[in-house]
Amino acid sequence: MTNETTRAEGMDAVFMDSIRPAQEMRKDRRHFLISAAGVLGAGAVGLFADVLIDNMNPGKAVEALGAPIDVDVSKMEPGQLILAEWKKKPIWILKREAWMLKTLSEPSLLRRLKDPESKQNQQPASKFINGNYRALQPEMFIAVALCTHMQCIPDYRPAPHTVTPWWPGGFHCACHGSMYDFSARVIEGSPAPLNIPVPPYYWKTPMVAHIGEMNGSGLDKNWTPDIW
Ligand code: FES
Repeated sequence: MTNETTRAEGMDAVFMDSIRPAQEMRKDRRHFLISAAGVLGAGAVGLFADVLIDNMNPGKAVEALGAPIDVDVSKMEPGQLILAEWKKKPIWILKREAWMLKTLSEPSLLRRLKDPESKQNQQPASKFINGNYRALQPEMFIAVALCTHMQCIPDYRPAPHTVTPWWPGGFHCACHGSMYDFSARVIEGSPAPLNIPVPPYYWKTPMVAHIGEMNGSGLDKNWTPDIW
């Protein structure tokens, strides 16, 4: 872990330790599950258990791997990133601070984005993903935690100026250098072609996200990004 990362505001250092092994396994997405097991073994049991409250009993867990999940975000701190799992894929949940949201509409960032309105390769029902926040609640960002180049898990790099001199904060993929803002929109110069997809989800309560379908109606339930 870099010094910049460990100093990032509001970040859960234990959890970032758990993300790092997945990045080091870069090109092999199957290792995500191993990484998730690492979360439980790294002292972050409470955190991970609290967020994965997917109402599954152990007997149904396997058959429900593709089912929507419920994530309780009530214990998240501002600036904190946590990792959940849906359809065997890592899912980011980031509690964005006000300064992070402010960066998303800065002209100096917008002119660097490949697809600022997220018009390419996004699920059709999630109209909210076309804005700068790409979220139903601006402070709570949810996305598939896979780079759209070759599906590494990008690093969370919130501290400004740490990746490039103009770096506003966001996500950086160490595999081949792709850069994303705090809404996971890809930045020009990255090998990644697309913004990182936002999965279908809605908020069951202000503190519980239901990830895997829209509005409880099953809408987009079977959606998966083309890159999977
Ligand atoms: S996999 Fe992320 S830049 Fe290549």
